[in-house]
Amino acid sequence: MGCGIGKFTPLLAQAFAQVNACDWAETALKQAEASCSEFDNTTFQRLDLSNDRVPFEPVDFAICINVLIMPSFDDRMRAWRTVTNQVNQGGTLLLVVPSHESTQMEYYRDIESRLDMGDSCREATEACAPANATVEDLQQGIFSCQGTRMKYYLRDELIMLLNGLELDVREIKRIQYAQDEASGSPATWDWLIMAQRRQVEEN
Ligand SMILES: C[S@@+](CC[C@H](N)C(=O)[O-])C[C@H]1O[C@@H](n2cnc3c(N)ncnc32)[C@H](O)[C@@H]1O
Repeated sequence: MGCGIGKFTPLLAQAFAQVNACDWAETALKQAEASCSEFDNTTFQRLDLSNDRVPFEPVDFAICINVLIMPSFDDRMRAWRTVTNQVNQGGTLLLVVPSHESTQMEYYRDIESRLDMGDSCREATEACAPANATVEDLQQGIFSCQGTRMKYYLRDELIMLLNGLELDVREIKRIQYAQDEASGSPATWDWLIMAQRRQVEEN
């Protein structure tokens, strides 16, 4: 869900009997479709996860990588419900989302290095404060990444959010990105979550 240019769709097409991919970006979706031209078990749908009904049935395994990052709380929660509703009871959802803790560590390291260079505490914190962030942004974990505002998640927030949507977290890991020695940018990570949709007992 939110397949983009289809980095993972050929792999999924080899591993599963049927793969339904969707995204709202037409150009990306066309590229994803082209990447699967040799498979006959894939479908591609253009849709907005925050507003449209998904035209395929719930599945046993859904994958959603760095898609649930909309800065709007409303849009994001609608997309969360769409994505989680597409998972069958007992089925698995694999998610990747940006880590709020990773961002906080970046700020911490930036401030530390300014202190080491002789800044006062005030100078260091002012120089490293997120640019143009509102109080609501900071409260919601919205930060700017290369000019795009997006949602970053706390580990415990993800567990609570998924619980509320009837999914139990089975595994949560860091996807650690290598430190870029050349630019001096520190090692950062995303959260990788495997969650299982709860079975609801019929009376
Ligand atoms: C960072 S890219 C990740 C693409 C892909 N999941 C991957 O890992 O290569 C985010 C994708 O989510 C899609 N997207 C964002 N908001 C969406 C929405 N409301 N409905 C459908 N797709 C959306 C974008 O078009 C983009 O392709």
